[in-house]
Amino acid sequence: MKIDIMTLFPEMVDAVMRESIIGRAQEKGLVSVNATNIRDYALDKHHKADDAPYGGGRGQVMLAEPLFLCHEALCGGSHVHTVFLSAQGRPFCQQKARELLSCGHVILVCGHYEGVDQRFLDACVDEEISIGDFVLTGGEIPAMAVADAVCRMVPGVLPDEDAFTCESHWDGLLEHPHYTRPENWRGRPVPEILLSGHHANIERWRREMSLRRTRDDRPDLFSEFIPRDKTDQKLLEKLTNEQ
Ligand SMILES: C[S@@+](CC[C@H](N)C(=O)[O-])C[C@H]1O[C@@H](n2cnc3c(N)ncnc32)[C@H](O)[C@@H]1O
Repeated sequence: MKIDIMTLFPEMVDAVMRESIIGRAQEKGLVSVNATNIRDYALDKHHKADDAPYGGGRGQVMLAEPLFLCHEALCGGSHVHTVFLSAQGRPFCQQKARELLSCGHVILVCGHYEGVDQRFLDACVDEEISIGDFVLTGGEIPAMAVADAVCRMVPGVLPDEDAFTCESHWDGLLEHPHYTRPENWRGRPVPEILLSGHHANIERWRREMSLRRTRDDRPDLFSEFIPRDKTDQKLLEKLTNEQ
């Protein structure tokens, strides 16, 4: 998987994406997350990459031409699926991460200041993605969130497929709670079933917790959930009868 991040602050991206699990995956050659400085494509000697908005008003707008030249260089003559990180985009989700993974190569464009000249977006961007209904100072943190979510699904990055398919949002549910040693922490015991060694009962309990959490904390997800088998159907009946 190859992810190119177009940014005015490449050091920000490198500092994060070269660490921990994604950093090791890059060292192993499983993924490549490369930050390119848009300013390197500025046309003047001061490497100017933004200017005042037409029509007046506050802030600076990122210039279309350096963005275009940077994008053109990264595409190398091919079409590469290009995403602009934007507070106005469609909300990011696990399904979108899977779609981006299937592209093989994506370019993520980070805005800064007031935003980006609309003509660059019209010319080069395939879709706009938001990481939530709030505004950040730049697209770098959203781009890294997207890159991380995509890269962790590349085979070999995590120990096995279960490490991402048995997580929240994979099948529309939130994951069950986790516990580790000690058995009793400050008067709070671990749920007894987890100490029973009965794997089928533990799995059933975990699924029930998963359904309960989703029902209580994310009714929007719960209303869309489709039971995968008879166990799910029985657990759903149990939860419905409690209400
Ligand atoms: C200060 S914001 C600009 C906000 C813009 N003027 C607006 O009102 O929509 C600067 C940049 O941060 C990024 N950004 C801010 N919030 C974001 C979010 N929730 N999701 C994705 N990117 C975001 C975008 O790239 C944006 O161009």
